[in-house]
Amino acid sequence: MYEIVKREEMAGGTVIQNEIRAPLIARKAKPGQFVILKADERGERIPLTMADADPERGTITVIYKVVGKSTELFKELKVGDSYQDAVGPLGQPSRIEKVGTVACVGGGTGVAVLYPIASGLKRAENRVISIIGARTADRIILEEEMRAISDQLFICTDDGSRGHHGFVTEILKRLLEEESLDLTVAVGPVPMMKFVSDITRPYGVKTVVSLNPIMIDGTGMCGGCRVTVGGEKKFACVDGPEFDGHQVDFDQLMQRLGAYQSEERESSEAHRCRLDR
Ligand code: FAD
Ligand code: FES
Ligand code: MG
Repeated sequence: MYEIVKREEMAGGTVIQNEIRAPLIARKAKPGQFVILKADERGERIPLTMADADPERGTITVIYKVVGKSTELFKELKVGDSYQDAVGPLGQPSRIEKVGTVACVGGGTGVAVLYPIASGLKRAENRVISIIGARTADRIILEEEMRAISDQLFICTDDGSRGHHGFVTEILKRLLEEESLDLTVAVGPVPMMKFVSDITRPYGVKTVVSLNPIMIDGTGMCGGCRVTVGGEKKFACVDGPEFDGHQVDFDQLMQRLGAYQSEERESSEAHRCRLDR
């Protein structure tokens, strides 16, 4: 069993942070890797990136957005409750090296996945310029944590309630014109990562994205997480989740992510009905 030792609600309760006791995983975890959690015996296997891992405390931290049945079930777990299963660390760690100036771009809950990568890049003595965005000011997460590891931090909101009124890509475009960037790392909604990759391509700035296809086993056996990168078939759980954004077939990824939407909606509605009764 994997006990929740700390729990925090963020972004008006739409995002939950759980610190979970998992000493063996914490000892091995590296930035960019993920775990698969299962709440109970009949639970769905849910992949979540580790936003942090503390080998001394023997804990890992995940930050997830409540989007459907399983994350709604996860939200019901309190401090002292346990996840039945946790598998990890899974996936390839981020490639952290000194390259020079790096733009770290995060949208919505993607900032949780971006944070350990940006933090590692800073520790590797890169100049880190971060751009984080959300729909509204109250949906911005990890602002102080990102500020602490960034040389410069830009905030963007879709409605202008905080920072730049508009998209993260508008600030990135300005940076590309003004600065010489050596690397861009983008994590967030698929359309955002696609747009970032389209913007950096003509400037020849290497762009790394973290992909989130539907995963089941997380060990390269089921094929559920198949993505096309540079015309080749890759399994995001073992070959990724990070890939060269200029090579990713984002349209295929978006199509595959929506494959079970009607079943997911049905299952979430049935869960809410049971809660209402
Ligand atoms: P559902 O209603 O079942 O699904 C909502 C949408 O989530 C679906 O339309 C689909 O696009 C996606 N989804 C559903 N099932 C899966 C699945 N088994 N695997 C992947 N996506 C799925 N989310 C976070 O908020 N924080 C994270 O740190 C994070 N890290 C991730 C790391 C990886 C490697 C991957 C692949 C996904 C990550 N996700 C993360 C996404 C998270 O796994 C999904 O939001 C979650 O599985 C949704 O489950 P649900 O039952 O609540 O929603
Ligand atoms: Fe099954 Fe990647 S999740 S092959
Ligand atoms: Mg689900």
